[in-house]
Amino acid sequence: MTANMAPKMSEAFTPPYAPALTGKESFSYAMWKFMRNPIEGFGPRAYSQDITTANSLGVRLHVITAPELMHDVLSRQAEKFPKAPIDGRIFSTAMKEGLLSVEGGQWKRQRRVLAPIFRPALLSAMAPMITQSIEAFTSRIGQGAQVELREAMSDLTFDVLAKALLGNAEGVERASLHKAMQRGLDSVGTIRPDDLLPLPKGTPRPISPAGYLAIRRVKKAADTLIAQRKRHPQDDLVGLLTGATDPHSGKPLSAREQRDNLTGFFIAGHETTALTLCWALYLLGRVPTIQERVLSEVKAAYPGGAIPHDCLSNLPLTRAVIDETQRLFPPAALMGRQCAQDTQIGGRDIVKGDILTLAIYVMHRREAFWSKPKLFDPDRFLENPSLNAKGSAFMPFGGGPRICVAAGFARMEAMMALATIIRDFKVEVADNVYPRPKLTVTLRPEGGIPARLTRRN
Ligand code: HEM
Repeated sequence: MTANMAPKMSEAFTPPYAPALTGKESFSYAMWKFMRNPIEGFGPRAYSQDITTANSLGVRLHVITAPELMHDVLSRQAEKFPKAPIDGRIFSTAMKEGLLSVEGGQWKRQRRVLAPIFRPALLSAMAPMITQSIEAFTSRIGQGAQVELREAMSDLTFDVLAKALLGNAEGVERASLHKAMQRGLDSVGTIRPDDLLPLPKGTPRPISPAGYLAIRRVKKAADTLIAQRKRHPQDDLVGLLTGATDPHSGKPLSAREQRDNLTGFFIAGHETTALTLCWALYLLGRVPTIQERVLSEVKAAYPGGAIPHDCLSNLPLTRAVIDETQRLFPPAALMGRQCAQDTQIGGRDIVKGDILTLAIYVMHRREAFWSKPKLFDPDRFLENPSLNAKGSAFMPFGGGPRICVAAGFARMEAMMALATIIRDFKVEVADNVYPRPKLTVTLRPEGGIPARLTRRN
């Protein structure tokens, strides 16, 4: 019997979740909930209807929670739905000219230039750096160390990107850059009352002086790195970024675009994977029977040494744990779009200027698409592979042409790290640790997650 076929002994564990509103609250109370923690701002209709429409501060807002309709917005009618102004306002401070923020022809050109960077060859080239970072992390942990999982996983994934992006960069100090990155993200990621107003595109968004300085620090580091890589070409991620050209015109990205994309890779690329790992370790710490099954699976396939980057097909249960973690705690829990041309979605009229919230968090928990959606049950992905197929109600990396450009890289890193940590350490989380999932730009455990990691022999 292989490890993933072991008898199912999962304890029924309901991880923390955002309770739906009752639907009887006043509008101002619902807005207040949304401002404090956007995933707590959805009522029962969002959990039972594919599309829900409301008027908010003079804007028509549609909440979409069904795969078919998301597909319509993100793929079939993508040209009519650029990103919502709130996305632009949040990201423009740090990466206005980066892939995450740009639209239209500029987006198409940048995607053509950048997508090949994340091709499979890069994944195998990056694997040794990921292994080094995982080894550095595991050797830092003592016999029975008490760690805070969000911070520990953020250190680990930042280290991976730092290896890939910084190399031996002179004049860039990693620890202070990591701090600046986090401070900048905290500052731009906090929703402000004016974010909900129908302000014209391009209206500047004030941020705290500390946040501003932190972002300036990150941009300066990116400029330094790019300048160094131009002087000393290398085949790492920065080298690939500065050397990449548009297959149509043969031209590279502009200096500003290169800098903003580098900043974007740092910001989008370490916190999201760190949170996937942090929540996955939390879930395995709370459900030891599943942790034991993952351990058997990994030990059978890779008894020692580095876990290879192409481990995915040999570790189906580990993969299912990552999928189930991203279902319950999608790091990018909501996506925003604005209608640029009158149309229909799900039979409903959508007019120019309307805002669409693609509520991935809610869709991942709707009873119409998932059986017992509140339970942690990775076996659902093993028993029903169609849950992971294109067009399903599982979309942690978004969809359509703007799907996460680095999904393969993120999945590889998460697999290698989770498999190594579980093979080499027993993870224990106390029964009373039940952190509220709180959405800033990403879905974090409020107050962090204390855990004990004990080395296995
Ligand atoms: C678990 C990890 C990750 C998750 C869950 C995630 C999720 C997402 C999602 C949902 C989108 C689509 C946003 C939208 O359409 O509004 C996106 C786009 C993007 N992601 Fe990721 N991401 C992850 C890791 C990464 C990493 C490691 C990088 C870079 C090193 C990255 C870079 C980007 C970029 C540049 C885009 C914009 C793509 C475009 O608009 O064409 N992401 N990501």
